[in-house]
Amino acid sequence: MTVKLEPLGPAHAAAMLAWMQRDDVRDDVGVASEPTMERTLAFIDRALTDDTVAAFAIVDDGAHVGNVVLDRVDRRVGTARFSIYLGAPEHRGRGVGRAATRLALAHAFEALQLQKVWLTVHTRNTRAITAYAREGFRVEGVLRREFLLRGELVDALYMGVLRGEQPG
Ligand SMILES: CC(C)(COP(=O)(O)OP(=O)(O)OC[C@H]1O[C@@H](n2cnc3c(N)ncnc32)[C@H](O)[C@@H]1OP(=O)(O)O)[C@@H](O)C(=O)NCCC(=O)NCCS
Repeated sequence: MTVKLEPLGPAHAAAMLAWMQRDDVRDDVGVASEPTMERTLAFIDRALTDDTVAAFAIVDDGAHVGNVVLDRVDRRVGTARFSIYLGAPEHRGRGVGRAATRLALAHAFEALQLQKVWLTVHTRNTRAITAYAREGFRVEGVLRREFLLRGELVDALYMGVLRGEQPG
């Protein structure tokens, strides 16, 4: 396993669209609108032009396996929101998510000089919560019934990590 991040570009769109159409990805990420190629390309274009977004393809041993995104970058307060997914189940549970999280946090704290990264995750996504906690995120609050999971309203966690809190 050799995990790298590459800037997201139009070449990544076809894989992204296919992953966004998967039920497991949609359930956990919380895809709000029907994924289309037009929306996917618009997201990538925004990521390339909007300085409140830093979006990366996760590349493991040379293959694009998922995406990790920092958005809502607030340079005044020094914060950004974090999100991540690995598109195919065979790439999960092997440490790729944790490695990509570490790289994205390094980008946030070093390149962007932010002081905090935050995320939300539904409470049933125990693998994601464990991965985030291992990389330094702490639970800061419970967002009661703020996540719609297959028609059911479930609680979400607000997690955050401050610069310097990542494990050595
Ligand atoms: C969430 C996600 C990015 C994590 O990446 P990953 O490569 O699968 O996770 P890792 O293997 O790096 O780490 C998972 C950790 O959780 C642990 N874990 C695995 N399954 C678990 C479970 N069911 N319950 C609790 N912990 C679990 C692992 O042991 C590992 O911890 P460890 O390194 O201390 O052993 C990935 O699973 C994914 O893309 N899932 C689908 C989309 C998604 O949920 N995105 C996040 C939305 S908020």
